[in-house]
Amino acid sequence: MSDWSLKNPYMSQITENYVLNGKGSKKETRHIVFALGDSGLDYKVGDALGVLSENPPHIVEELIQVQGWDRNQLVSTHNGERDVYTALKKDFEVHMANKKFVQSLAHKVVASGMRISLSIVARSRNGEEWSADDEGDLPPGLSPGQPSDDPVAKVEALVVDAKAIEDYLWTRDYVDIMREFDVKYTPEEFLELADRLKPRLYSIASSHDAHPGFVELTVGIVRFEYNGRVRGGLCTQFMADEIDTSGAPIGVFMSPTKSFILPENKDIDIIMVGPGTGIAPFRAFMEQRVFDGGKGRNWLFFGDQSSKTEFYYQETIEGWMDSGDLFRFTTAWSRDQAEKIYVQHRLIEHGAEIWQWFENGAYFYICGDKTYMAKDVHRALISIAEEHGGMSNEDATHFIEKTMMREQKRYLRDVY
Ligand SMILES: Cc1cc2nc3c(=O)[nH]c(=O)nc-3n(C[C@H](O)[C@H](O)[C@H](O)COP(=O)(O)OP(=O)(O)OC[C@H]3O[C@@H](n4cnc5c(N)ncnc54)[C@H](O)[C@@H]3O)c2cc1C
Ligand SMILES: NC(=O)c1ccc[n+]([C@@H]2O[C@H](COP(=O)([O-])OP(=O)(O)OC[C@H]3O[C@@H](n4cnc5c(N)ncnc54)[C@H](OP(=O)(O)O)[C@@H]3O)[C@@H](O)[C@H]2O)c1
Repeated sequence: MSDWSLKNPYMSQITENYVLNGKGSKKETRHIVFALGDSGLDYKVGDALGVLSENPPHIVEELIQVQGWDRNQLVSTHNGERDVYTALKKDFEVHMANKKFVQSLAHKVVASGMRISLSIVARSRNGEEWSADDEGDLPPGLSPGQPSDDPVAKVEALVVDAKAIEDYLWTRDYVDIMREFDVKYTPEEFLELADRLKPRLYSIASSHDAHPGFVELTVGIVRFEYNGRVRGGLCTQFMADEIDTSGAPIGVFMSPTKSFILPENKDIDIIMVGPGTGIAPFRAFMEQRVFDGGKGRNWLFFGDQSSKTEFYYQETIEGWMDSGDLFRFTTAWSRDQAEKIYVQHRLIEHGAEIWQWFENGAYFYICGDKTYMAKDVHRALISIAEEHGGMSNEDATHFIEKTMMREQKRYLRDVY
């Protein structure tokens, strides 16, 4: 037992940090290993690791420069008194702007009494430009690319429309907005508006029995660029860019799961569906099943863009196939052919056998993208129950959602 927690994180060292993708990949997915040292920290497969990170130094520097702040000025924060640089780096999320800040612009712009030329280009989340037909979705006067000389009207129009704010924030951070409106805040005013820095959770990709003293993750690094400025995810950039090179300690804590667990009976079969970084807990599950040595069969569905560049843990998986520990391995490479092939298509193709496994008491696990993949896989399971279980849509839905998921607790999800 140990007392490490979100409030009292263990300062771990990263001992390995490498990219899993092959050359030419559009992604940057990393395998990251943290040493647990003498922390006494323990974990089980299915648990997640909480990671505390910091803001990228270039964003902090730009903010200080754009606002003309004194980096050594002391400010009070929820973590005590700090200098401005440290507060911006460690205590608040300054890599992405929030709605509260955009709403504060109304007051700032009016108070400053300025009139500047402003061009608001709204962009939808999937990156498509707004067309003339979309203009109805924008507040009056916010048509794409139309310059205006009335910032007050623009800000007022923006702050009353939640979707316009969301689209506006998708392509801009604090520095972009401060430059666009030429507004000045005191450090205290700004920190009052910024969000407190939050930890991020990662599904653990190792079994502690197989890697005593270490905890391993599979992390998709979030990077993008707008307005000619490099940006990205707070924690993933920190782990990829700052910790890798400096070897500095990083705060971690365990986030145990109650539900995403292996069956107690080691002779029960399991089906694991984990495309992309969704593979993480299933690497851990497989290591644990090999360590425990039960008779239950293991079937892994994995996929990503291409077998050439995203076949994470290929050697390990092939080793499990050769040893017979992995009974079946089914892949869905979405971009290796003209039409998209996703894990749910593979589930449907193998529907008859999956249904047999279900009838035999198999557990079904899913990990990865919550927004699209998990929903599509859920629908695929219902259609398998209809087609191979001979059920009506209503009965199939009841079987998957009530019987397997809620009552028997053998349809388990770790989605984000
Ligand atoms: C239980 C659980 C387990 C998880 N396990 C894993 C795991 O094993 N591996 C893993 O990689 N992740 C995992 N995650 C996700 C992880 O917690 C983080 O959310 C993820 O790494 C992003 O964190 P970040 O701090 O780098 O990005 P953030 O700073 O939080 O930024 C992410 C946000 O960036 C914005 N964004 C993204 N792309 C763009 C773009 N092109 N333009 C503008 N804005 C954009 C979006 O608003 C997005 O929500 C898990 C999450 C949970 C809840
Ligand atoms: N913020 C970002 O910039 C960013 C970028 C990537 C991922 N993510 C998020 O990060 C998490 C993990 O990402 P990841 O890189 O590990 O994997 P991912 O983006 O979920 O992709 C893994 C595989 O799933 C496929 N896929 C796309 N839509 C799907 C659907 N509806 N059903 C089934 N499969 C689908 C992808 O194909 P295609 O890509 O060929 O369609 C790819 O082959 C997810 O939550 C994802 O949404 C965020």
